[in-house]
Amino acid sequence: MTMAGNKRELEPGGLTAGKKIPRHVAIIMDGNGRWAKKRYLPRIAGHRAGMKTMRKIVEFANEIGVGILSLYAFSTENWKRPPREVDFLMRLPEEYLQRELPLLIEKNIVVSIMGEPAGLPARTQKAIDTALEKTRGNTGMILNFAFNYGGRTEIIHAVKTLCSEIVYGHLHVDEITEDMFGKYLYSGGMPDPDLLIRPSGELRISNFLLWQLAYTELWFTDVLWPDFEKEHFWEAVLEYQQRERRFGGVSKF
Ligand code: IPE
Ligand code: IPE
Ligand code: MG
Repeated sequence: MTMAGNKRELEPGGLTAGKKIPRHVAIIMDGNGRWAKKRYLPRIAGHRAGMKTMRKIVEFANEIGVGILSLYAFSTENWKRPPREVDFLMRLPEEYLQRELPLLIEKNIVVSIMGEPAGLPARTQKAIDTALEKTRGNTGMILNFAFNYGGRTEIIHAVKTLCSEIVYGHLHVDEITEDMFGKYLYSGGMPDPDLLIRPSGELRISNFLLWQLAYTELWFTDVLWPDFEKEHFWEAVLEYQQRERRFGGVSKF
């Protein structure tokens, strides 16, 4: 398959041509509401279209060899939305997993979750727990959903856990390091994202992975999430491959 806008051949396994596929890609799946509005449809129609995009992108990321795909699906701030929309969004994991779980299992994908499970409807929790359990033994791409996730809440959660370890004498304050702190986050010591993709034209992080994005390469597009295609993902990867990551050091060239 040849991707639009560039001559690079895209074939699983052979597509990297010596360039690195980002190990961990994070996506803020945004723009569903505006996509629906443009079509005079209810916002939930946008979320359903966004789910279709998600299915395609999960498959593509897996095909090109991404190690971890983190998807921002529902933020702690999204509870502010109208109850009808929130209800619909809460039902989506169940719908997605019911349909996709066999394929995820077949593709050796590991489902993982970041966020506060408390506060989610029982059915949503159950669907997530089943997916975690059924894919636990897999060894392929980690598909990491941020659901009822907030970056600040995540940091507070880690601080609280660390504090109680200190109070109970299991840990000394001087032992706290950046690496160790990372392990107390929901992401539990996963490598930080190499690339963050945000569609929909918004140039902000919206409380996503505040700690983990410290040195992530950011890539924005005006395309709305339901219109986002594999080609856009690939475009982001190609641009990522052109970036020089210095991590505060000096240029190698
Ligand atoms: C992203 O699309 C989905 C969620 C936040 C759950 P939006 O619903 O935020 O779409 P816009 O930003 O209103 O277009
Ligand atoms: C971020 O999108 C959250 C998700 C995509 C789940 P929002 O639409 O909630 O972000 P803001 O409100 O535009 O910052
Ligand atoms: Mg939005």
